Order: sequence, then structure tokens, then C-alpha cells
Amino acid sequence: MLEIKFVEISPELEANNIVVLLDNNLILSAATANIDQKIGGIITKFVSDKKNFAGKFGHHKNLTYFDDASKLTNIILLGIGDQSKFDDNQAENLGGKIYNILNRAKFDDSYVVVDQTYNNISADNLAALIASGMTLASYKFDKYFSQKEEEDQSKKSLSKIKLSTNNYQETAAKFDKFKQIASGVFLARDVITEPPNKLYPDSYAQRITEELRPHNVAVEVIGEREMHNLGMGALLGVGQGSINESKLVIMKYDGGPSDQAPLAFVGKGVTFDTGGISLKPANGMEEMKYDMGGSATVIGLMKALACRKAKVNVIGVVGLVENMPGGNAQRPSDVLTSMSGQTIEVLNTDAEGRLVLADALWYTQDKYKPKLMINLATLTGAIVVALANIYAGLFSNDDDLSAKLTAAGEKTDEKLWRFPLHKEYDKMIKSDIADMKNIGGRGAGSITAAQFLQRFVNEVPWAHLDIAGVAWNKKATDTCPKGAAGFGVRMLNKFVEDNYESE
Ligand code: BES
Ligand code: MN
Ligand code: ZN
Repeated sequence: MLEIKFVEISPELEANNIVVLLDNNLILSAATANIDQKIGGIITKFVSDKKNFAGKFGHHKNLTYFDDASKLTNIILLGIGDQSKFDDNQAENLGGKIYNILNRAKFDDSYVVVDQTYNNISADNLAALIASGMTLASYKFDKYFSQKEEEDQSKKSLSKIKLSTNNYQETAAKFDKFKQIASGVFLARDVITEPPNKLYPDSYAQRITEELRPHNVAVEVIGEREMHNLGMGALLGVGQGSINESKLVIMKYDGGPSDQAPLAFVGKGVTFDTGGISLKPANGMEEMKYDMGGSATVIGLMKALACRKAKVNVIGVVGLVENMPGGNAQRPSDVLTSMSGQTIEVLNTDAEGRLVLADALWYTQDKYKPKLMINLATLTGAIVVALANIYAGLFSNDDDLSAKLTAAGEKTDEKLWRFPLHKEYDKMIKSDIADMKNIGGRGAGSITAAQFLQRFVNEVPWAHLDIAGVAWNKKATDTCPKGAAGFGVRMLNKFVEDNYESE
């Protein structure tokens, strides 16, 4: 992880490069004014012409500086725009922008000066949020390059940044929490990025165990024999075409009072989705390595909560399967019996996520009697058509739960949009031969999938998040490089923190 050092604001110009923030009024903060004075007023001179720099959000300008007596060679002015519109999300995005600017320019000896309050965000909080954004932006996955970065200077990325604030110790303490959350996000991104020949149900279950046990999360792994005994015919049907044994992983973290019902998070973990006998087209099939994205969010969340010692009881359950064609694969028209006893006619083996979740959801509510249950899944292509990569789809039987999730999404910029559930959609999944079929008709593909899941949750307050569009970034954003996003870890952490830790 990127090394961020919080230091005192010092009048000495003891770095090669300094970053200062300016809003669109272009008034220098006390610390910036101090620096400006030491360097002959070049910042004041430069910004006195609005054509040079207007302080727009995210815009930056480099000023070069020459002085034999000083290490300093460069000053970066970075705009924060209109103060009155500035919020936590922008602060984190700003941190990501700073990281990316410094990384591109290879300024490994920089300090960022933060001593101003913007729109009620104190300098400490602002600095901690900037550090969080920098950290999230610095994610990389390079384990499969045979030549390591240290041997190739052109590939070497920024490894350290200093942040100077007045209350640097308090800021460092605040950042600690963000760092733990980021470690959960990074775990989610790591397992999503792993190729499916390395990450399959068994190796994935082992990885989860190794990652979470040291943080006081109890991890239990169930194999096919035990799932068979439990009657999980739906989940097992999906995995039966693969030589890789399906697994169900149950994680338990007890940070709350022992009599408190847990919150439950359930994830779809299809380590690769070929579509099965209803084979997907070759073009773009490689994307289906991220079909375990829902499970990745669950384990990333478990790690974040456990690392920051959240005062809450949480259960995580992930169904890990590989959806392959093969001599033993299930066929379109097979009928499966789920753990709930309900039967399912499989009309398309590519609608497999709902089969995995049917048993994982039923098992979770039946065994753990959770206070609420939230599942995450890269479930339908239809949600990508509806919302692209901007919002995830939210489906729920509970208005209060929906409101809480939506609010947490706004606060962390992992946005959710609620879709309807209605018993009229049930008609679309009626089967001629079993209790239901696993596909709907032409329209409302994401809703019929959610309607299917709802049959396996009983009366528990429940929400389903369809993250097919947001789990993978086709392009880099300020706080996430191209690739696995780890969507939902920060949002669900916030959801837990804001609503369930004071009880
Ligand atoms: N894993 C896919 C959904 C998906 C699509 C995830 C695009 C990420 C990006 C899912 O298992 C699937 O194949 N769904 C089918 C369902 C259909 C056969 C009813 C789909 O959406 O086409
Ligand atoms: Mn599929
Ligand atoms: Zn799938």
C-alpha cells in the first residue's frame, strides 16, 4: 500500500514538490501564503490572472521554481472549485487526482499542504479523506508480470507522499480507519482480478480463510458432499459441469453483543461463467472472470469491518461455483430441487447466479435468523442496459432498508437505484413442469431475476444489489484504476457504521 506520512506544517521547503489547494476564489490558505512568501510570491502573481488558473475542481497547474539553496523545484496548484458544493466524495476524488498527477510526473518527494476548512469539512477530515482517495487510486495488481517494477524504472509507481496538516496526529488516527476500509476494497479487487485458472472455488475458499482468520473472522468451508446433504440442489446444479468442486464459505464476525441478531451479507461467487451448455459467445467471455464480484464485496466488507473492529455481529456467506459445459453439466430443461424444497426448471444454464443464490440465501436466513439480509451479485446483463456503470440496481422487500442503503450509497459515491418488485412479475417465471423456471420473458430481465431470489428469503428484510454494471471499470476513475472496482465495500461499511453500531 502507498505510504502516506502525516507531518507538521513546516515553513521549510523540504521537498522537491509541493501541492497546494485553492478554491475558485483563489485565496491562499495561511500555510500556502507562508510558502508563497518564501518563494518570492510566485503563486500570488500567477493566480492574479484568472486566465492562468481559475481554481476549477480538479484542474491543476505546475509552477517551476529555481533556487540553488532549496530542494524545491515544482509547485502544483490544484483547484477544488466552489467551496459551497464541496463534499466528502469530492475530497476523496481530489486525493485520487493528486495521486495520479504525482504518479504520472514521478514526483516521489512531494508534500501536500492541507490547512483549510471547506464547506464544514475540517482540515483534519479533509486531509484524511484526501489520503483515503490517494490510497484507493494507488491500487495495482502486478503479481503475474515476470519482470518486477524495481527492475524497470519506467514502470515504477509512486510509493510515498507526505501530507502536512496542523493536527497531523489526529489526522493520522482518522486516516487509520480509511486505511482499514481500503484494505477490504483491495482484497475485493485482488480476488476479482485473479484469473480463473488461479482462483476457482477451492483456491478461493482457501484464500478467504487465509485472509480473514487472522482478523478474528471464523471461516467455515462446506464442500459438495455436505451441500448435497443439506439439499442444495440449485447451487450444485450449476457446479456439476466443472471439475472444480463447488464450495460454500461461511464467515462469522462477532463484534457486537452476543444476543444481537447478525446482519447477513450473501454473495454470488461464480469464479467463471461460460454460460454452461447455454454457452456464451466467445467475444467478451473473458469478462466473466468477474462473475464472482458479489462474493468479493462480501469478503472485502468482512475484512474492513473486522480490521476496524466494528461493533456489530455479521455473517457473510458466499456460494463459489464454476459454470462450465461438460459431460456432466446440467441441461436446459433439467429440474432442480432447492434447499427450500421449491423446484426449478432450468431453461437456460446461463441464468446460473440466481440458482447459486437461491440456496445461499435460504441457508443463511434459515440457519442464522439474521436481522436483515443483503445479497450482491453480477446477476444480469439487463441491469447494465438499464443503468450502465453509474448505478447498481437495488431490489428490496423493505422501504427502510432501501432508504438506508441508498443514503450510504450517496455518501460513498457507490450509487444505488431502486427497482420495483411485484407479484405480477411472478407470472413471468411460471414453469409448466416445476414451481418456477430460471428465466423470465423478453422484458424486465433484472426484475424477474430479483423476483426469483425473493422466493428464497422468507420474511427477512432483504435487499438484492445487482452489480453487473459496476463491478468492473472499463476505464480508470479518480479513485480506481481500470479493472476491478471492489464496488460496495465502502458503501456497505458506511451502511453498517451509520445504522447498526450504536445499538
Ligand atoms: N453473469 C451474467 C450476468 C452478467 C452480464 C454479469 C454482464 C456481468 C456482465 C449472468 O450469469 C447471466 O449470464 N445472465 C444472463 C441471464 C439470462 C440468460 C436470463 C443475462 O443477463 O444475459
Ligand atoms: Mn450466466
Ligand atoms: Zn453469471
